[in-house]
Amino acid sequence: MLSSLALSALPLLLAGLQATAVGAVPTISAVGSKFFYENGTQYYIKGIAYQLTPSDPLVDTAQCKRDVARMAELGTNAIRVYHVDPEADHKGCMSALADAGIYLFVDLDTFNTQIEQTGPHWNETQFHAFTKVLDEFQKFDNTAGVFVGNEVLTTAEGSAAAPYVLAAARDVKAYRDKKKYRKIPVGYSAADIPEQRPMLQNYMACSKNESERLDFYSLNAYEWCGSSSYTQSGYNILQKNATDYPIPIFFSETGCNTPKPRTFEDQSAIFGKNMADTWSGSIIYEWIEETNNYGLISYGASVDPATATASAIEDGFTRKGTPTPVSPDFQNLKSQWATLHPTGVALSAYTKGISLVTAIECPSSTSGGWAIDPSSPLPTLGQTYKKNSNTASATGKDGKPTATGTASASATEGAAYAVTVGSPVTERLLAGSLVLSGLVGVVAFWL
Ligand SMILES: *[C@@H]1O[C@H](CO)[C@@H](O)[C@H](O)[C@H]1NC(C)=O
Ligand SMILES: *[C@@H]1O[C@H](CO)[C@@H](O)[C@H](O)[C@H]1NC(C)=O
Ligand SMILES: *[C@@H]1O[C@H](CO)[C@@H](O)[C@H](O)[C@H]1NC(C)=O
Ligand SMILES: *[C@@H]1O[C@H](CO)[C@@H](O)[C@H](O)[C@H]1NC(C)=O
Repeated sequence: MLSSLALSALPLLLAGLQATAVGAVPTISAVGSKFFYENGTQYYIKGIAYQLTPSDPLVDTAQCKRDVARMAELGTNAIRVYHVDPEADHKGCMSALADAGIYLFVDLDTFNTQIEQTGPHWNETQFHAFTKVLDEFQKFDNTAGVFVGNEVLTTAEGSAAAPYVLAAARDVKAYRDKKKYRKIPVGYSAADIPEQRPMLQNYMACSKNESERLDFYSLNAYEWCGSSSYTQSGYNILQKNATDYPIPIFFSETGCNTPKPRTFEDQSAIFGKNMADTWSGSIIYEWIEETNNYGLISYGASVDPATATASAIEDGFTRKGTPTPVSPDFQNLKSQWATLHPTGVALSAYTKGISLVTAIECPSSTSGGWAIDPSSPLPTLGQTYKKNSNTASATGKDGKPTATGTASASATEGAAYAVTVGSPVTERLLAGSLVLSGLVGVVAFWL
């Protein structure tokens, strides 16, 4: 029977079908602790960090097409881009990626707008810059997720910045929903700081209020170097800390490069029996070979930056042209990925059991360690952290010097509670797909 609901939604459905035909790529959703394609198959990330040029690698369609062909050969289904220009035209690159089934995880910040560990604040200027990137990339069905920060916290003493990261996620999610954009997952990419484990990751996902937790969490981890093992590398500890995590979690950077050549053995652990039920895959750092020596692809031998004149050369490395695999690393990763195909769980089976997903406890503050009072509200837009003292300084992973303040916080016990994690999202998603599948039947009947 044709209901009035069906009738009123019919134009929407048809518009949706049309959009799918043109975009030709199913969207990705976060449900509970996993990502799913629209057809209900679980999505595992086999990603590559892709930043050929500092400002935006997604503006040169011809270059994207050359690279996408090699990415497809490698078995890539996602890229991560750290910095983009929201004013530029990304249609060509995004559709070249979509045609190859490659999704984008994009960072919303730039060097000028990123949330800082030292004297953290979250303000209108940052919010505006972040949402401009979202405005641009929500247009593309193959945008799989956005990051509100990358390694904002880099030291054991940096916890005061965590609420500012979460406040950014809260405001970006609220903006996304107000603009009626697709529920593009909003997450954070964390540095691997043993002293903050598992407090930081739990803090980001523990709120009873879905609007105040991340949609996914990810970790830049270089623990597995050369020939190692699940226990020797420390992945068993990562797994222990992430077991029963209520939102998707994955490696947003991995691929230790000492010793060379890289064999990417860790991939078989991430996609294997110990971890694949918890982790949603990994993003290998990185596509282009440059000074740091992590590249899978080279566009030519390095040149002396002092004498380099060509515009495609920066930092002594050519940043466009024919992608040539770095050997044997490229082939090693390709061989690893070719054997790894976890099936995961079907959305229909997963959602039946989703109420079994339990909440995690918000970490309580400890003196000299995690310094966030779980009962204190998140910072408001425009708020700046007031520190009591300035005690430590350190050097971040990428050599950036970072200074940290010490947070003052009362040691309040984190209250344990149970909630149906993901339920608001899930219910909407299920209701949506039920209406949709109902409609497909109705439309077939009606036509
Ligand atoms: C669902 O879609 C994905 C992406 O297009 C595809 O790889 C997968 O095989 C599909 N699953 C089923 C059961 O058709
Ligand atoms: C937000 O902070 C940045 C520094 O990170 C500053 O340049 C900008 O003026 C601030 N914006 C507002 C509205 O205060
Ligand atoms: C959940 O968080 C949002 C964003 O901070 C807020 O507007 C809303 O009132 C909160 N809901 C509840 C039930 O506390
Ligand atoms: C998390 O890992 C740390 C080591 O980094 C370990 O001491 C702790 O027991 C783990 N916690 C949980 C809840 O698994």
